[in-house]
Amino acid sequence: MVEQAHSGASPLPGSEALIQLRDLHRSYGRGDRAVRALDGLDLTVPSGCLYGLLGPNGAGKTTALRILCTLLAPDRGTVQVAGIDALAEPRAVRRLLGYVAQEVAIDKILTGRELLQLQGDLYHLDRSKRERRIAELEELLGMGDWIDRRCGSYSGGMRRRLDLASGLLHSPRLLVLDEPTVGLDIESRSVIWQVLRQLCSSGTTVLLSSHYLEEVDALADRLAIIDAGKVIAEGSPATLKQALGGDRVTLRVREFSDAAEAARVQTLLQACQGVRQVVVNQAQGFSLNLVVDDQNVVERLRRQLAEAELPVFALAQSRPSLDDVYLQATGRTLMDAELAVAGSRDPKAERKQNMR
Ligand SMILES: Nc1ncnc2c1ncn2[C@@H]1O[C@H](COP(=O)(O)OP(=O)(O)O)[C@@H](O)[C@H]1O
Ligand SMILES: [Mg+2]
Repeated sequence: MVEQAHSGASPLPGSEALIQLRDLHRSYGRGDRAVRALDGLDLTVPSGCLYGLLGPNGAGKTTALRILCTLLAPDRGTVQVAGIDALAEPRAVRRLLGYVAQEVAIDKILTGRELLQLQGDLYHLDRSKRERRIAELEELLGMGDWIDRRCGSYSGGMRRRLDLASGLLHSPRLLVLDEPTVGLDIESRSVIWQVLRQLCSSGTTVLLSSHYLEEVDALADRLAIIDAGKVIAEGSPATLKQALGGDRVTLRVREFSDAAEAARVQTLLQACQGVRQVVVNQAQGFSLNLVVDDQNVVERLRRQLAEAELPVFALAQSRPSLDDVYLQATGRTLMDAELAVAGSRDPKAERKQNMR
């Protein structure tokens, strides 16, 4: 079973909870037309980790992050950041965090540096501190000469790095990013991943939302999968996948002369401890596909098959993915959920973006 939503969960041992969202509800519009974006969302983010919020478009990620960053009020629920009640003391919470929104409208006339300087003034950084910080961020984000070019000429990757720099200018304890790599090329994406890892290892707590499975899988220490405004699974990527059990194993023994022989081997395998399912793949000379509990089962099977004079000559193994976790909890894949939302909203561009 998937580790279920963690209502009332305590923080991880040895680490305090930096963020605690409890029972968040938020709808847009009224009456029959109301859209329920959050439906009792609970989230605990421990201090110092890189935390992923994974869910299809429309799941409520942006709404949750905007509420956390005090840009939107919930209909119900509580928000605490570092023990501060964000609804009562929004200014204090804003000082602790940097927010990088999904869509940022940046000035096209100013250069990147000018924009950061302006931002520094908004945070009341004194001039020398501001310049020192900009130099640090230039280095961290590999901003190069283009920091002195007008933002209007920036590529998506450059713009994203500037957004990041601007969220990091006041050295916040918590960095919140909404879909930080949507639409970016692979190189820019990997620069951003690297920077986020670096930030986290130097003590910044990072919370990011994404609808990219592989992004959350590769980056996050812990994650919450959200769907229809609720957390449906929570844990580390490895724990969530392990909880599903069942490595997928494709195993080939010599080609069987006929279906009867394949069926005989299928029965033999099915009786083995730790084997959950055996499917005969008739298309490929009767190979066998198995779902097994763990690696030990594969080793045992090798021995048993060798004893039955059926030595294994090919074996491919794949771990369950986060999509399997999502599937288990919701009954559909993340990709299907994305397509359903894109279909109901229409814009072709959106659908294209979601297809990877
Ligand atoms: N300003 C808004 N007005 C009306 N509906 C909205 C608004 N913002 C979001 N929604 C709806 O709320 C739901 C959650 O949206 P959102 O929080 O943006 O999800 P996500 O970021 O996971 O894609 C979706 O059904 C979305 O269409
Ligand atoms: Mg969003």
